[in-house]
Amino acid sequence: MNAPIKRPFDVAAVRAQFPILGRTVNDRPLIYLDNAASAQKPEVVIEAMSGAMRGRYANVHRGLHTLANETTEAYEAARTSLARFLNAPSRESIIFTKSGTQAINIVAAGLDIRPGDEIVLSVMEHHSNIVPWHFLRERKGAVLKWLDIDDDGDIDLLALDALIGPRTRMVALTHMSNVLAARTPAADVVRIAHAKGAPVLLDGCQAAVHGRVDLTALDVDFYACTGHKLYGPTGIGVLYGKPERLAILPPFEGGGEMIDIVERERVTYNEPPHRFEAGTPPILEAIGLGAAVDWLAAMDRSAIEAHENMLRDRTMDALRSLNWVKLYGQAPDKGAIVAFSVDGAHPHDVAQILDRQGVAVRAGHHCAQPLMQRLGVTATARASFACYNTADEADQFIEALHKARKLLS
Ligand code: ALA
Repeated sequence: MNAPIKRPFDVAAVRAQFPILGRTVNDRPLIYLDNAASAQKPEVVIEAMSGAMRGRYANVHRGLHTLANETTEAYEAARTSLARFLNAPSRESIIFTKSGTQAINIVAAGLDIRPGDEIVLSVMEHHSNIVPWHFLRERKGAVLKWLDIDDDGDIDLLALDALIGPRTRMVALTHMSNVLAARTPAADVVRIAHAKGAPVLLDGCQAAVHGRVDLTALDVDFYACTGHKLYGPTGIGVLYGKPERLAILPPFEGGGEMIDIVERERVTYNEPPHRFEAGTPPILEAIGLGAAVDWLAAMDRSAIEAHENMLRDRTMDALRSLNWVKLYGQAPDKGAIVAFSVDGAHPHDVAQILDRQGVAVRAGHHCAQPLMQRLGVTATARASFACYNTADEADQFIEALHKARKLLS
């Protein structure tokens, strides 16, 4: 297969590929800064999915007819695209799930947990990387061991080392916080955990968007990410597992496709990845996600990262100069996600007044309640950038925030 041709990064050209960015909201041009919740979709993704529905669609892996074969090829090509995008050691180690959340649930549900076994988590995890482990606490007597962070979301590797013991069954950490945008030093985490024989799962739902992920180099045991933040569709996520881990992980759901033989008194299971893809999989969504990551990989990812970092710095510098704004998470190498609050105003009110000016941000606990408790707040506002945002949009957001403050004070 030929390597994709790298095109230089040009934000105007990128924007032109996203039809939604041309619309208005409340009679203002849309400024979409809620990308950490879900990113918008380029034409290439819309076309891949609608093109499949118009002309190349059937069920996968079951048929003997041309359409079934064409669709199976497209679905499996998407798996190859994801394996290449994440530099996974093999395409069979890439499982399509319905979400990043489901990917983590598959791993948690498959662990052989005895009362007193331990799961190490950080306090800045998204609920999708907390609640599946709470299930193990509630149902099997697992003990959750919480790793603290500093105010910027940095973790203390010595503290991590001290938390991992002989009963640690998983170290499950975010690769990038969805609020503080701190990047977890994944290579160090994996080294420390593996030295003690503990496997590592990274939640890459944000990290995979804002930088390159090299699963082979990371040597991580499990990696979860989601499609809709990666410019792909909803309804699709990815679970990566090391082949030796997947080989012993029991299936999560039962149904068609994940089996080998089904008899009245016996069932045997298919090999990974199919063992974890019960029923008709999200075919169109996988094709859409394959198109999204091929599109992203064909661009200069370093240039995208530099562009997003410029937006982050421009916004954070402007917010730092306002004595009525508090910033959450200021690690220098963080991703392009800026959590903040405005003195004396509820984040929901701030978000609603920004929306009246066409600016979309998220406000709330960001599905990270233990982090909110750690920060001593119930909610924050959050502006999160994507490759298609511009410096002008960052400036207009700051201007809109000034107006919101005037209205709220
Ligand atoms: N995980 C998504 C967010 O951070 C929904 O907003």
